[in-house]
Amino acid sequence: MTLTRRAALAALAVVGLAAAPAVAQTTITLQHPLPSSSHYGAGAAALKESFERATGGRFRVNIQRNDNEREIVESVQIGTVECYLGSTGPVGNFVPAVRVLDVPFLFRDYAHARGVLDSDIGQQLLGQFQPRGLVGVIWLENGFRHLTNSRREVNAPSDVRGLKVRTMENQVHMRAFSTLGALPTPMAFSELVPALQQGTVDGQENPIPVIVANNLNQVQRYLTLTGHVYSPAILICNPAMMQRLSAADRAAFMEAARAAQQANRDKVTADENSGIEELRRRGMQVVTQVDTAAFQQALAAAFAQYERELDGATLRRIRDWR
Ligand code: PAF
Repeated sequence: MTLTRRAALAALAVVGLAAAPAVAQTTITLQHPLPSSSHYGAGAAALKESFERATGGRFRVNIQRNDNEREIVESVQIGTVECYLGSTGPVGNFVPAVRVLDVPFLFRDYAHARGVLDSDIGQQLLGQFQPRGLVGVIWLENGFRHLTNSRREVNAPSDVRGLKVRTMENQVHMRAFSTLGALPTPMAFSELVPALQQGTVDGQENPIPVIVANNLNQVQRYLTLTGHVYSPAILICNPAMMQRLSAADRAAFMEAARAAQQANRDKVTADENSGIEELRRRGMQVVTQVDTAAFQQALAAAFAQYERELDGATLRRIRDWR
């Protein structure tokens, strides 16, 4: 083949490519606050894989990390980010009904929490998002939260007194810590490590998978397995984006959300099993025997307030769930 003929064929191929009908691709940006190796990373990756495969490349899910959960929810509300995968930490400030889930010692164990969130109670709470300009898609999981600090071993509620504890921007959690005599200091997760390094706060509380994935052992010596509150996570999306999906694409998105929930919960279970040993290996001093009844008693005044201010009927339904 002459050089001229080869060049002509190459030019034709380029023209052919340019003339091929372009498949329009829609990008959905999903932000979450943890490393890709975390339980949120596992959920986000499962959603991406499932939805992109089911829609044959017409959609791309762009996963981004943003350590500020409140900022992500605000962005989803105004539509600059399509979806949020994160804890309910700041969510009660947008959808107050969700605060019932943040009450300490409400859930007995993971089976109880997952069962309630997958039941009509969880569905009814998801239904509260629409009037607030958000779509609550599905419940995921962060995990039971435990207390860490750099000052002392916490064995009893009285050991918490006087500790400056970073909490999420969550009224329910803040009330619990102030009732225990701590100084709750709400801030975004992005500010936590510098605050611990500079001594602005002495401690924080998070599930084992978060403590492991973020190396909080480098700034915290003491861990007490208080399991004082279950921290749900949730997938929230922008209503206009959800509306633009065809019925078939919406079904594929819901299927992808269920895949995300499964991958996220599996990762929490796996990390819970190995995480405590890992944190010991990294030098943390771990208190495993916790007098839960003593913490519950110390929180009596907070519980009375939750009963008055939150939806008491839903709280009772959750407690009675079997
Ligand atoms: O502590 C928090 O803010 C949350 O638990 C975190 C780590 C962002 C995960 O949702």
